[in-house]
Amino acid sequence: MKGLILSGGRGTRLRPITYTAAKQLVPIANKPILFYGIEAIAACGITEVGIVVGETRREIEEAVGDGSRWGVRVTYIEQEAPLGLAHAVLVSEAYLGEEPFVMYLGDNLVKDGIVPFVEAFRREAPHCQILLARVPNPEQFGVAELVDGRVVRLIEKPARPPSDLALVGVYMFDPHIFEAARAIAPSWRGELEITDAIQYLIDKGYTVHPHVIAGWWKDTGKLEDMLEANRIILDALVPAVRGEVDAASEVHGKVVVEAEARVVRSLIRGPAIIGRGALIENAYVGPFTSVGDGVTIRGSEVEHSIILEGSSITDIGGRIENSLIGRNVAVYRAEAKPRAYHLMLGDRSQIGLV
Ligand code: DAU
Repeated sequence: MKGLILSGGRGTRLRPITYTAAKQLVPIANKPILFYGIEAIAACGITEVGIVVGETRREIEEAVGDGSRWGVRVTYIEQEAPLGLAHAVLVSEAYLGEEPFVMYLGDNLVKDGIVPFVEAFRREAPHCQILLARVPNPEQFGVAELVDGRVVRLIEKPARPPSDLALVGVYMFDPHIFEAARAIAPSWRGELEITDAIQYLIDKGYTVHPHVIAGWWKDTGKLEDMLEANRIILDALVPAVRGEVDAASEVHGKVVVEAEARVVRSLIRGPAIIGRGALIENAYVGPFTSVGDGVTIRGSEVEHSIILEGSSITDIGGRIENSLIGRNVAVYRAEAKPRAYHLMLGDRSQIGLV
């Protein structure tokens, strides 16, 4: 069995971060989301992994490399434009060949992994297996209608969802999916939808097995989802101090302080992670915060946020909360007169002032 991870697309809902970086590389607890997917696939004993890439190919290749870090062999598959999940399957046909495969959307996070589902797929050998999860907002996903435990209908982002069962971004297929992907037409959003391809399998009488998952799962396309994913993953941290914490500082709860990080006259209340080489000085870092490598937080308070590498937050005299701050961003108190906000913001930045 092979793995196929989809890491193309545009990530419009995470702009401006995704103007300069692939959405699948935004870190959750200081680790790119994409890496959780690779780990989940490697844990199933799958060693051949195709990664579908688009315009962010170069940085994804740089971050992932050849996959040997996870004991897998990665092959990059170029998709010329994000024309849909079923289109991504078609461009991967030569790579996948006749083997069954697991397809994993690179912005999805399934907390407990996918081992039992892949085992069920191996054992039962249906033509397709889908994972479903109950959600409060099914209209934002592909939605399944089940009758007596069998899938009868799948609809992509329906205005009036027939159930609260969302399609999780992990699918298992045998080669019949190529026939299905070739048979369907683009949807209203101009994409070849995997949902329609699976509906084709159902209509043709192929076996499609659903599994409703009980564990936590997230599609991290939006800021709130990122912060929630960060919260859930940080909550499972194993505390460890590899850097320096001075005698005037306090560290409470599940906190990781990475090597070469320094905590000086500060309070850190976990769950939180402080990246390699970061400096926390006269500061408060509150629960559910991921501080990236080389970040400086001085004379400031930060809580329930993700701060990417190389950024600095200095003497802001207030608290930053519920925020996602990109790479090499500087937030600081401006002393120069007149007393005013000095901003240099990228397109589509969002600033909430108090
Ligand atoms: O997350 C689960 C949902 O994922 C399902 O419930 C939906 O049925 C399914 O269509 C999908 O919906 P999204 O609209 O959230 O998909 P998105 O466009 O965000 O793409 C998912 C991943 O696949 C993302 O990492 C980008 C990548 N991708 C996407 C497209 C459209 C590609 O690699 N190529 C593509 O052409």
